[in-house]
Amino acid sequence: MNYTIDTDKCTYCGLCAEDCPSAVITIEKSSETAVIESSGCIECSHCGMICPAGAVLADGLPLQDYPEAVSTYCPDGDKAAMFEHLINSKRSVRNYKPDLPSEKELESIIFSGRITATASNSRQVKAVVLKLEEVKNLSRVISKVAIKVVKLGLNPVGLRVLKIVGLGRYARKELLENYYRRITDTLNGTTDAFFFNAPVVVILTYPDTTNGKRFGRTDCALAAENMMLAAHARGIGSCMIGFAEAALFSKKLRKKAGVTPDRKIGLVFTLGYQKPKYYRYPRRDDWEV
Ligand SMILES: Cc1cc2nc3c(=O)[nH]c(=O)nc-3n(C[C@H](O)[C@H](O)[C@H](O)COP(=O)(O)O)c2cc1C
Repeated sequence: MNYTIDTDKCTYCGLCAEDCPSAVITIEKSSETAVIESSGCIECSHCGMICPAGAVLADGLPLQDYPEAVSTYCPDGDKAAMFEHLINSKRSVRNYKPDLPSEKELESIIFSGRITATASNSRQVKAVVLKLEEVKNLSRVISKVAIKVVKLGLNPVGLRVLKIVGLGRYARKELLENYYRRITDTLNGTTDAFFFNAPVVVILTYPDTTNGKRFGRTDCALAAENMMLAAHARGIGSCMIGFAEAALFSKKLRKKAGVTPDRKIGLVFTLGYQKPKYYRYPRRDDWEV
């Protein structure tokens, strides 16, 4: 899918560039430049969903607007329509207000995870909840590992290695340079390359046993999705962080994150009051059903 900006509509506000996870958008009001670089774009639609002017096109077409007002769209009692909109409007959020969600909100979110179905009702999922400084510390710990991988990718041989191990999507010099800058800034404490300054990170784990291995990750994924939807219903955004999950493959890092040695990582996600406002649904491929 090819994303482009209609410069007749664009106001050069820069919201799309700020929300782009791949940093492939250049917006400059002075030169009236608004360009989406297709190489490196993961086609998530965030640029189009966040644009107040509706200036972003996917394959030449606008994205589908949200219903005008959810209260109109979901008249009293139409719980199904309300719930569907809640599910369909839940996005991966990478920009948060600094405030910590209240204990009551966090408890409700954790409750939704706790009561989610597990294979054979094994109830093997557990959560580690990190807050504020603990999140920053984990991001710094991960950064120390990640910077080595990014450095590797920044030389031609390493770039080839990234492609061979299936990380070809990230094997682009400008993207790696951008990661390098953000990881260095994370180590300096001026940003958070992995958790986007979210005030809360949840790590769902399952036991490192034969039983746990069979459905442990599935159980964690189901619980996580319910927790993220419960959060979204409260205006609390979330984002799954696969990079953190990969880094926590290391037992040493798992210990630093507060995960006991008998547990494996099922899923890691952020939580925090959502800053971006989205106006539209993302464009996704049709399912041939
Ligand atoms: C398993 C999994 C791991 C992910 N890991 C990351 C991550 O490490 N960093 C990140 O910014 N987004 C991560 N994402 C978010 C995806 O990139 C996201 O699904 C994509 O941007 C589509 O956006 P949407 O969820 O807003 O529709 C992850 C998503 C999934 C399902």
